[in-house]
Amino acid sequence: MYCPNLPSSKGPPAPRSYVFSVVKDQVAEPPYAERPVTEAPTRVGVVDDVKAPVTHHAVSTHDDGSPSLLHLVELDSAAHADMYASAIQLYSKTFTESYELKASEVTHMVQMKKYKMLAMLDAARTQVKAIAVIGDIPILDHTYCLLDYFVVDEKHRGGGFGAKFFNILVEYMRINSTHSIMLLECKDGLMKWYSRLGAMRCPIPSSVCDPDANENLAAVESYNTMDVVIREDGRFTAGDRLDQNRLKMVMNNMRQYLHSYCQCETKTVINEEGASKELLIWS
Ligand SMILES: CC(C)(COP(=O)(O)OP(=O)(O)OC[C@H]1O[C@@H](n2cnc3c(N)ncnc32)[C@H](O)[C@@H]1OP(=O)(O)O)[C@@H](O)C(=O)NCCC(=O)NCCS
Repeated sequence: MYCPNLPSSKGPPAPRSYVFSVVKDQVAEPPYAERPVTEAPTRVGVVDDVKAPVTHHAVSTHDDGSPSLLHLVELDSAAHADMYASAIQLYSKTFTESYELKASEVTHMVQMKKYKMLAMLDAARTQVKAIAVIGDIPILDHTYCLLDYFVVDEKHRGGGFGAKFFNILVEYMRINSTHSIMLLECKDGLMKWYSRLGAMRCPIPSSVCDPDANENLAAVESYNTMDVVIREDGRFTAGDRLDQNRLKMVMNNMRQYLHSYCQCETKTVINEEGASKELLIWS
């Protein structure tokens, strides 16, 4: 287990920081060396190549420097019904706007393997502390996925928990999926936070997906698209991030496949400060 930041007996305690190592449960697949030789694997989507349940154990540190154990699990709505119910409850109480998917729709997407439901559990593995809902984007050989929903339960917010969760999530996706890039969408206020975690804003206008937004576009909150490289595999590296045409294609596929929007209109709005802003309006 690699825990470089755990407190040492010599010198001052290490600064409080996020550290983790990843170990698969007994139920996970055997190491590569023990697997029977089969045909070369084809590149498939995130959901298809992961045998649930897969668990990541993450070692973090408490304020006093002592280690704390966190578990990241991929939930199946039927096989882990109780835990899944807690996860979907956290979704429902957080995303209440009319344009958000209903809990039953999210579950349907999980069952269709369009979404992956990942939950961060406490040490006793009884409580869901945070969830991430990750959507597959099939175009371009599943190179991209979308972090569609990311929530830390109010009780656990602050003190860096969300940042830890995000880092563990990226590590999980690096190991357990074939995606190279994870997209995410966030409001202006959260861009700095995601930037600190390695995300970069994509060079495409912000999106508006609220069907009622046209009433007052200048006031509506738009979503910036950001990306995080989760794997540099030679096919796709950080240098490829600025390809606008590729991004537009991916966005279109993502909106149709995950969000059921087919139309995209570009509009320029003038905000209260008199600045103009280009927006992509999806319907
Ligand atoms: C965003 C969220 C995951 C952060 O979790 P967390 O445990 O509070 O994260 P951390 O403790 O690592 O970081 C907190 C930082 O994020 C900032 N932050 C949290 N929510 C914010 C928001 N909506 N707008 C701007 N900043 C925000 C805090 O001010 C704090 O800043 P600081 O580090 O400069 O003090 C959590 O607030 C949440 O679940 N919010 C509701 C759902 C949501 O908005 N998800 C993101 C969708 S893109």
